[in-house]
Amino acid sequence: MMIGTRIIGPLRIAVRTLSVTCAPKFIGNARGIYMPSTRASISWRTLASSSCPPSRAVIYEEQGPPDKVTRLVDLPPVDLKENDVCVKMLAAPINPSDINRIEGVYPVRPPLPAVGGCEGVGEVEGLGPGVKNLSIGDWVIPSPPSFGTWQTYCVKEESAWCKVPKEVPAEYAATVSVNPSTALRMLEDFVSLKAGDVVVQNGATSMVGQCIIQLSYLRGIQTINIVRDRPDLEDIKQRLKAMGGSEVFSESELEVKNVKSLLGGLPEPVLGFNCVGGNTASIVLKFLRQGGTMVTYGGMSKKPITVSTSSFIFKDLRLRGYWMQNWINLHTVNEFKPMTDYLLRLVRDGQLKYVMETVPFQDFNAALQKALGKQGHSPKQVLVFDK
Ligand SMILES: NC(=O)c1ccc[n+]([C@@H]2O[C@H](COP(=O)([O-])OP(=O)(O)OC[C@H]3O[C@@H](n4cnc5c(N)ncnc54)[C@H](OP(=O)(O)O)[C@@H]3O)[C@@H](O)[C@H]2O)c1
Repeated sequence: MMIGTRIIGPLRIAVRTLSVTCAPKFIGNARGIYMPSTRASISWRTLASSSCPPSRAVIYEEQGPPDKVTRLVDLPPVDLKENDVCVKMLAAPINPSDINRIEGVYPVRPPLPAVGGCEGVGEVEGLGPGVKNLSIGDWVIPSPPSFGTWQTYCVKEESAWCKVPKEVPAEYAATVSVNPSTALRMLEDFVSLKAGDVVVQNGATSMVGQCIIQLSYLRGIQTINIVRDRPDLEDIKQRLKAMGGSEVFSESELEVKNVKSLLGGLPEPVLGFNCVGGNTASIVLKFLRQGGTMVTYGGMSKKPITVSTSSFIFKDLRLRGYWMQNWINLHTVNEFKPMTDYLLRLVRDGQLKYVMETVPFQDFNAALQKALGKQGHSPKQVLVFDK
């Protein structure tokens, strides 16, 4: 499996760290010079161009609540092997799957200890002697996503990185390969949609949800969007409609006997997306037309999906699941890249945008609290690193 082989890069760093991070925050380089790791990068670069500078990283050594088991540490410099690329990270998001990995409930996880994060963008800082297709200063993303992006310098083999254009903001390049790609695949791979069709989704404020709205709009597909109740409901409705959403309902607005009475002039949805579970998944099912399909791709409420017997017998509904990792396992990098290129072109052209909050990397703990939902409704948290 592609991701499996890529575990090695970040792990190599993380494992070395263990012996060092227990020591004071001063680390030795090959010449026996001791220097504070956060300031060492400049000196180190001048000392050895085939090494990657010391890195500040979010690591975890055991599975558990992310705000309990993660910590910021300094990692030692890494000697670059033949095909290694040293990347100075620019931005990296905190995705629900990153949280699930730290909790130990995600099926694909790095061995411990591990550096957190799986997605991000950085600038090439150093090259092993065998690297052929990347140059210093290129912007790259781990493509497909791979472990260990929550650190200031990340080393992986050339084959793990993919060059991206610099014409989009770093936070978009950092987030293109998980959520927008998932939205695109789910619109393409389950039902043959045509202009005028309707899809219904819950979790519409999520990054995936926002992408579904906009990618649907570009295809002439209408969207019914379900969001959680909140004080700023009207603002959220306006925002999602400005992205191209046809209708936006809060969960409590859908506590009616017949949700289809709220369709107005819209046709019944042929396809539904569920990333929440519980009652709001049942509402997606209620909206669907005869023979409709609901694709489950997340379980934010941690509640199971309940399906009435009549939905199967009288509506012949189809329940499917989507996992980006599975798509990645079944496809090559050469199939992944055109997808991210396409999505980044949409970003560049102003046809795809989503709400993000950029947070300095040193404020990781504050960003994590928001990503864990401990500060109420928060936009996607994207860590940004010093330039
Ligand atoms: N299967 C796959 O391959 C795949 C790929 C990408 C993402 N995903 C899944 O897609 C979902 C969205 O990911 P994302 O990165 O786009 O999300 P995100 O931007 O981080 O936003 C989180 C979303 O979850 C909602 N939420 C948080 N806690 C909730 C709760 N207890 N009950 C109901 N909703 C809750 C938030 O709603 P509010 O705005 O109301 O706070 C928001 O819409 C996640 O479940 C993620 O794991 C799956």
